[in-house]
Order: sequence, then C-alpha cells, then structure tokens
Amino acid sequence: MKKYAQIFQGTAFTSKSPKEVEILNNYLFCINDNGMIEKVVAPDDADYQVLLDTYQGEKNFQRLVEGQYFLPGFVDLHVHAPQWAQAGTALDIPLYDWLNTYTFPIESKFSDLDFAKNVYEDVVSTLLANGTTTALYFATVHKEASFLLAKICSNKGQRGLVGKVVMDNPDQNPDFYRDADTQTALADTEEFILAVKELAKSTKQGVYPVVTPRFIPSCTDDALKGLGELATKYDTHIQSHCSESDWEHGYVQDRFQKNDAFALHDFGLLREKSVMAHCNFLDDNDAHLFAETGTAVSHCPISNAYFANSVIPIAHLHTKGVEIGLGSDISGGFSPSLFDNARQAVISSRMLEDGVNTALPTEERGVPNSRITINEAFYLATAGGGKSLSLPIGRLEENYTWDAQIIDTTLTTAKIPIFNANEDLGDVFQKIMYLVRPENIREVWVQGEKVHERK
Ligand code: GUN
Ligand code: FE
Repeated sequence: MKKYAQIFQGTAFTSKSPKEVEILNNYLFCINDNGMIEKVVAPDDADYQVLLDTYQGEKNFQRLVEGQYFLPGFVDLHVHAPQWAQAGTALDIPLYDWLNTYTFPIESKFSDLDFAKNVYEDVVSTLLANGTTTALYFATVHKEASFLLAKICSNKGQRGLVGKVVMDNPDQNPDFYRDADTQTALADTEEFILAVKELAKSTKQGVYPVVTPRFIPSCTDDALKGLGELATKYDTHIQSHCSESDWEHGYVQDRFQKNDAFALHDFGLLREKSVMAHCNFLDDNDAHLFAETGTAVSHCPISNAYFANSVIPIAHLHTKGVEIGLGSDISGGFSPSLFDNARQAVISSRMLEDGVNTALPTEERGVPNSRITINEAFYLATAGGGKSLSLPIGRLEENYTWDAQIIDTTLTTAKIPIFNANEDLGDVFQKIMYLVRPENIREVWVQGEKVHERK
C-alpha cells in the first residue's frame, strides 16, 4: 500500500463551484511528502477501511473530534503588510488624503529593519491565526525590508507572494517616501525578484516575487513600461490598485484618456498572473479585457466601504467571466480576517441590490441581481483566490495543497450555536462562516505542515 506522510479524518467544506459548497462528510485526506492532497477517500470507498486499519493510532493519523471541521486555508489577495502598524485608525478621510497624511509616513519608517521585523513578524502570525494560509502582500519601496517580509513568510510557513512597491513619480509621491528615480526603482525590483526566487528554492510552501506598481498615479510611464517587461522576463505575478475611487479613476482618465484597465494593459501589466485590487469602476469593456487576459479582481469589501465611494458589482463581474478573490486590504480594511471580509462582501452586495436611499421608490433604489451568498463569499476567500493566483490552492481536493484550518465549534468562550447533534451540515457551514472568531481556529496547516496551533 502507498505510504502517505499524513492522513486526516473528518468533515470538510470546500467549493464545488462559485455558488455551491461541497460537504465531505467524514472523509479521509491522504497527504504526500510534498504536502499535496494525493487522495480524498469517501466512507463508502473500498480503500477507506483498509487505510483506517493501517494508519489509525499512528503518529501521522489525525481524526477530528466531535464539533470540529476542516475548511481550506484562506487566500488573501490584497494585504499591505506595513499598514498593519496603523490598522483600525485613520479611516475618516478620503483616499488621497489618507495616503498622504497617514500611510506614506508610516510606510517610510520601513527603512528601519528592526521596526520592519517587529511589524512583519506580527502581521504574518496574525494572518495565519486568522486562517490565511496564502497572502499577496504589498511591502514598501525598500528592497531590504521587502525581502525581510518574504523571509518571514518563508520561516513561518505562510505562502507569501511579496512585492517591493514601486512609486517613482515625483509629482505624486512625497520626497521622504519614493524611489530615488525610475532606473533605481527598476533595478531594485529586478534585484528583489532574483533574491526571492533564490529564497523559494528552500521554501516548501513557496514564496513568490510580485511586480508591484503601487497604482498608476504613483508611477511614471517609464516605470510602468519597465515593470511590464520585468514581469514578462521573469514570469512573475503582478499586483496593483485599479479603478478604486472617484479621484483615482478620474486621475487616470485625465492622464491617459482611458480607464485603468486599458492603461495597465498598454504597459504589459495585465496577464494571467495579474491581480488588481478594488476595480470598483470597471466598465464592461474593462471586464472583458480582464477576462481575456486572465487578470483577477481582488475584492476588498471592508476597505471599499471607506475609500471606494461605491459597492463593486461582484455578481455582474462573475457573469462576465472575471476571476475574483477576496482581499483584506489591511489597513484600508481594518480586519485581518477573511471571515470578516466574506461577511462584509455579502452585506455590501445586499445593500447594492436593495439600494440605500429611502427617498427613492423601491424599484429605483438598487441594482437588481447584485446579491452574493455566503457560499459565493467563501468561494472568493478560497478557490477564487487560488484560481486568481494560478496556484493549486484553496480547495480540499486531490492535487491541491494541504492548506487547511481546523475549526472547533464547541468552545465555551466562542460557541457556535449548534444545539442539535444531527444539524444539517449546510447550516453548520453557514454558522461557521458568520460566527467564527480567531479562537475557533484551532490549527492551521500549509503545504502539509502545521503552522499555527491554539493550545
Ligand atoms: N491606492 C494606492 N495605495 C493604496 C493603499 O495603500 N490602499 C488603498 N486602499 N488604495 C491605494
Ligand atoms: Fe490597497
């Protein structure tokens, strides 16, 4: 019989499609040495009893206890790691002012590697404790501190995709916080890509360099062009902010007489491995371009409530074939939890559908067919994120990584209200999605390794 590194037994929830959740009741998950799910075995499968007889009682066999469930690890498609230092503050002013008054000053402090280490160690541990097993990070303009973030992800066992941020435009960035010039920005980015690729060789769960123009206003045309070329040369992921707010969307139309999507595409920045944050103001032509190029949207519902002047029509974008995942956007979004963001994604979509201004008649108040369900929000936080990054993550399925959260619904301090031993498992799933707190997340695994445990 095939030898597995580890076998888990228990009930799991995983996305079958963007709208449907599959319930795997008391299944076995057989993990190989590379941390991949090699086999998923149902209780009525011929192998099931044989595997149990062979592995039960062994050190590498783990059965969930009553009231515990597996979820896939979450994929956070948009985190500003340095902004963890100001999370929860400064959410009372518009984007442009917020960047200049609060955010650029705090990010400029990451030239200090001791400060960077403190914040980065903490944000990676916090995200893991919240069930986030993969994160797509913006660091800062500083290449050393950005590399330190990649190293911390590598050490702590999180799958980190990390970008050294490029902001070389002297018209839009303060003197105290920007790349020295375009040439330096591109040279530092290339050096950073090579260093992270080297680090990846010794990182089981993977660590990836990401080409990261902060957003169009931050960058000169030459930098945007050079970054597109670097992404092609090294086949990297790309991330930026796209059509986020009235001001930002308007700035790009003034500068290029087109929307962000087409401007980014002109610079070679929309590709299969591109992920664009926010995208609230995409029109149908932009959406078509995203679908055609394989560019994904990172939906950041909490942040959008503060800075995006709008609710993004996620349901509509899904009908256009756009790949979509979920982002916390720390610290535009205050919460490090994708549970919180999944909840907000549902709530925002319901407010978009119904509308909010009671001075208008019911039928004119909202945008029909805009709602998404908690199942769809779960898809965004898991399988949708995996697809957006073109990685085999976000599903508890064969040939995917064993990136998992073990949820305990029975804690007295954070009880999930399940009073019937035979409660419908679909209802259990919904209660988990709406009510879980970090205490309920007992263990987190990435690529077959335990990376977080709450004793
Ligand atoms: N646009 C450019 N930079 C940022 C940022 O840090 N956060 C958000 N929400 N939008 C941005
Ligand atoms: Fe952001």
